Amino acid sequence: MKILIIGSTGQLGSDFIVSAALAGHIVVPVDYPKVDIRDQASVESYVSGMAPDVIVNCAAFTAVDGCETERDAAFLLNADACGNLARVAKGHSSVLIHISTDYVFDGGASSPYVESSPTNPQTVYGKSKLRGEEIITELYGGNSMIFRIAWLYGASGSNFVKTIRRAAESCQQEKKPLRVVNDQIGTPTWTVSVCRQILSMIDKKERGIFHSTSEGSCSWFEFAKEIVSLCGIDVDIEPCTTEEFPRPAPRPRYSVLENARLKALNANIMPDWREAFKEFLSIGKKAGA
Ligand SMILES: NC(=O)c1ccc[n+]([C@@H]2O[C@H](COP(=O)([O-])OP(=O)(O)OC[C@H]3O[C@@H](n4cnc5c(N)ncnc54)[C@H](OP(=O)(O)O)[C@@H]3O)[C@@H](O)[C@H]2O)c1
Repeated sequence: MKILIIGSTGQLGSDFIVSAALAGHIVVPVDYPKVDIRDQASVESYVSGMAPDVIVNCAAFTAVDGCETERDAAFLLNADACGNLARVAKGHSSVLIHISTDYVFDGGASSPYVESSPTNPQTVYGKSKLRGEEIITELYGGNSMIFRIAWLYGASGSNFVKTIRRAAESCQQEKKPLRVVNDQIGTPTWTVSVCRQILSMIDKKERGIFHSTSEGSCSWFEFAKEIVSLCGIDVDIEPCTTEEFPRPAPRPRYSVLENARLKALNANIMPDWREAFKEFLSIGKKAGA
């Protein structure tokens, strides 16, 4: 298949290029400013020249705290731009694959959210991403797939794994403990696991929203302990509370997603989060990272 990947230099997009090529697809990566998804004419002029079978949108305004102060910019990229992509994809009969987030929920649950659980975003980021889902569903629900993911990490971009490695190394040098939040629960999810899952669904007829995070769950503190242990960094890690690390945008306390639709279709290939993290590290070591 010919797959156009937008947001191809981002954390997920960069791994999608590699995963899709390894799966034998023809991959066309593109990014801002070559294509600006906020401008329908920009998307149209690029897509019309190549007629992709599938358009994958990995582009977004992903700075959760930044969205709080840049509300208009967040809605333009995370919501309105989705309309541009849906209209162009529809015009060319391309399947549209879009990525969404656990932030569409309020984080107040005590058991995993399924695709049909009521949404109630608490942040500008979550509200803008939910609106993006709604726009795609309204305009092109019959030929689009939306994958909600969470706690993403990968080889490129900034993420929790890199932040903890850096912080742990500096705490090790300064011989002081590293404090990490222990009252937010979610599921660390490797970019490559998401790419493999999406690619496994690409020629299926199923449409709509899919949860697609790794299996299992933990707190940020537990994830940090795993990172430090497997990376061989000798530092004490201490649990702390969300209140000790106030942020401009509230973080969900409970963000575990159940891949209910994938499981119902017998199509869930998302691995346990600890297994995926080990594979991520082993690939990094082979690459000399
Ligand atoms: N990161 C997480 O923990 C997480 C969790 C749940 C869901 N998600 C979702 O997963 C998806 C991928 O996230 P990510 O972390 O890979 O994002 P990312 O690293 O921030 O990458 C975003 C990409 O979007 C591109 N972009 C920005 N503005 C654009 C525009 N106007 N037109 C075209 N492209 C533009 C960026 O290009 P430039 O670099 O040139 O600006 C970049 O390549 C997003 O939908 C995000 O909401 C992420």
